Amino acid sequence: MSNHILLTGGAGYIGSHVALILLQAGYDITIIDNFYNSSPEAVSRVRKLTNREVSLIEADLADKANIDRIIDELKGKSLAGTVHLAGLKAVGESVEKPGFYYEKNLNSTLNLVEILNACDARTVVFSSSATVYGDRNKSPVDESGLTGPTNPYGMTKLFNEQILADQHHADNRWKVINLRYFNPVGAHPSGLIGEDPLGIPNNLFPFIAQVAVGRRDKLNVFGDDYDTRDGTGIRDYIHVMDLAEGHEAALSHALKSDAGFVRNINLGSGQGHSVLEVLKAWSHAVGRDLPYEIVPRRSGDIAEIFADASLARDLLGWQTQRSLKDMCADHWRWQSANPHGYGNETA
Ligand code: WQD
Repeated sequence: MSNHILLTGGAGYIGSHVALILLQAGYDITIIDNFYNSSPEAVSRVRKLTNREVSLIEADLADKANIDRIIDELKGKSLAGTVHLAGLKAVGESVEKPGFYYEKNLNSTLNLVEILNACDARTVVFSSSATVYGDRNKSPVDESGLTGPTNPYGMTKLFNEQILADQHHADNRWKVINLRYFNPVGAHPSGLIGEDPLGIPNNLFPFIAQVAVGRRDKLNVFGDDYDTRDGTGIRDYIHVMDLAEGHEAALSHALKSDAGFVRNINLGSGQGHSVLEVLKAWSHAVGRDLPYEIVPRRSGDIAEIFADASLARDLLGWQTQRSLKDMCADHWRWQSANPHGYGNETA
């Protein structure tokens, strides 16, 4: 049986770590990426870290005009499955440009379904997000939690879950696992690959990392008046290496199954940490206190969310192995070795 996997968005932050884990697990991979929010350098470094070849198709999966070329390039590879990560992921940008997010994130998945039917490869692990839960559930949240995204980005994740689920309902040969990530952070311990956000980082870890490396003056803590143990927001941070291993566990589970199915599965640590707790852990990793200021809340933020990840443990035999200390140490090693990411000096 073929062990060739299509990895959409495989040059990105999550994608490059998933690529590395799949290669180390013995899969062959083809990456599709348009490098809108990623770098070819990440693919080169994955090749270097694994000493494995990686096929690369530079294309925008959301553009229908690329479908035939992509099918032609994939036809000879007899794909075993797909890990679908390609998509825009900035919550704030999605609020400003909803049409852009719906067009890109939904068309990528609709085009991918057409491509995979043509390639007779109907096993997909999809990069979904805990943002589909919105603020409608008490934590820990399990997969039966109410969904209710509070921004267009989260809506595209929920719609994509539904597009893939309905594909299985229409054709039960489809095997679909929607992985609902909580907050991915950290980097490969080599410091060679990591998060390299475009422009000003939206997320906590990359912003703190840029404060620590001197690219930002201080961290703005978005509110300390939430109903939490120290008043700041609590989230379930998950090391990107744990997350990548979760993808391999999901893919292996799906490939082993004879029958089609659709499953939503949380990938989280099951533990929440506040902004101030994260800042303290970062200060320990960097070896000095990092400057911050308490500012008003960010609109759309919720007080607290963390995962019930028991389904991933029971069904996939997966759970997180790495601590908050590991997340900060590995993220810092990447950022201090690559102050401007993969060389995007202007960001
Ligand atoms: C975490 C906490 C902020 C930045 C989002 C998406 C989710 C996923 C991860 C893509 C919150 C606080 C943050 C800062 C701060 N994205 N914060 N100052 O909002 O939980 O999740 O990113 O896959 O889908 O919803 O992550 O890192 O932005 O915020 O105080 O400069 O840090 O208020 O409490 P979030 P985040």
